[in-house]
Amino acid sequence: MSKKAKTAYVCTLCGADYPRWGGQCSSCGEWNCIQEVRLAAVSDKHGQRAVGYAGGQSELKRLSDVDLLKAERVLTGIGELDRVLGGGIVSGSVVLIGGAPGAGKSTLLLQAIAHIAERGLAVLYVSGEESLQQIAERAHRLKLPVINIMMLAETSVQRICDVLDSIKTEAKAQIVVIDSIQVMHTQDAESAPGSVSQVRESASYLTQYAKKNQVSMFMVGHVTKDQSLAGPMTLSHIVDTQIILSSTDDARYRVLRADKNRFGSIGELGFFAMDSGGLKEVKNPSAMFLNRAEKLSSGSVVTVLWEGTRPLLVEIQALVTDCQYGNPRRLAVGFDQNRLAMLLAVLSRHGNIATAQDEIYANVVGGIKVSETSSDLAIVIGVVSSLKNKIIPHDMLFFGEIGLGGEIRPVANGYARLQDAAKHGFKTAVIPKGNAPKKAIDGLKVFPVSTLMDALDVLAEI
Ligand code: TYD
Ligand code: MG
Repeated sequence: MSKKAKTAYVCTLCGADYPRWGGQCSSCGEWNCIQEVRLAAVSDKHGQRAVGYAGGQSELKRLSDVDLLKAERVLTGIGELDRVLGGGIVSGSVVLIGGAPGAGKSTLLLQAIAHIAERGLAVLYVSGEESLQQIAERAHRLKLPVINIMMLAETSVQRICDVLDSIKTEAKAQIVVIDSIQVMHTQDAESAPGSVSQVRESASYLTQYAKKNQVSMFMVGHVTKDQSLAGPMTLSHIVDTQIILSSTDDARYRVLRADKNRFGSIGELGFFAMDSGGLKEVKNPSAMFLNRAEKLSSGSVVTVLWEGTRPLLVEIQALVTDCQYGNPRRLAVGFDQNRLAMLLAVLSRHGNIATAQDEIYANVVGGIKVSETSSDLAIVIGVVSSLKNKIIPHDMLFFGEIGLGGEIRPVANGYARLQDAAKHGFKTAVIPKGNAPKKAIDGLKVFPVSTLMDALDVLAEI
């Protein structure tokens, strides 16, 4: 077997590769970040190459003749995690879980595999960061059932695969946790452990192993300040699913979301609370984000968002103040700044309320990022409430998209949103006419509106 090594040039920041060395990475624009990386060209004893997938034989096939893989799923027993994964762990899939140090990635995975192991499946936790004693202590403190969890302190991906091969016969490990991928290294790459190319090749090596042996893998990845995982594009195209665990403004809570999911939707959010007993599921996230002040002030208004497959009540706050000098500032936190500018223009033209001379700040409480348009109406109402110093009753909510003509457009899942509002004690809802419920909802008075003017009229009467 000839052992001819190939050479590639990889950007250490973003992971882009090039056929030859250059001073600047044309992908991320940084200078002096391209490094030579030697790739092993030969297969090792796991039948794998360091880079690239072990593709099958190339053979033409009709799409209709391709056997459908029955995606078998294993539930982790942690409902919020299963939800974000798209209904449990798909066997043979690789999930990257990212998050800042201290977010609770190790805790979440330890809890998940303990539940899985309790049901008799073989699981392996590979720790490259914490000692086995530390993990044992944590498991003990969280009172987790540990009897069936296999542990391994190792950072070489080849040795991890050797161990996995050796235990395959009696109790084949079906779920493997790699904590974390940043400390893993492969013998095939010559760059320093921890470098982007090492991380990428280790991830790719483990991914091939997982696919070939139908092992499901979780890889932990620490995110940097700009929320990228060891260089933005490097790992997300290798893995099947990428989920991020992040803190909300209230440090006690954690939000889990999928950035990429080959086996489910990415709109889904999972909510947890971190306390002395580890991460606990929050089954009723609306209550957690709607922890409002005792005494409400003007500018505060509630809307109901749609996150994945369920409604979520959130508070939006707006603050309008006189501009002392210079250009008035407009600041949107938690939603698109341009959307705020557009809504203010519509308010001026179709609501006859000019704000051009005012400074305007708008914030979605709780660190939630709003990407849908159903919060338009609540944002505008918040601005008007602050401008006119008019307090909105605590049991009133608004949702609806606002068009450039001042029309209020219906949004998806209107009925379910209203039901959730009623469940949380809301008494009045101002919503698009197109979302007016055909069947009355107990305890909820609905004001369907078709224009922004109509909505402002409802506001004037309270
Ligand atoms: P950890 O899972 O180690 O985070 P990561 O692996 O993402 O770096 O979580 C560590 C944090 O969680 C740490 O700040 C302490 C806190 N924590 C609790 O509050 N309660 C607990 O029961 C546990 C295990 C951790
Ligand atoms: Mg950790």
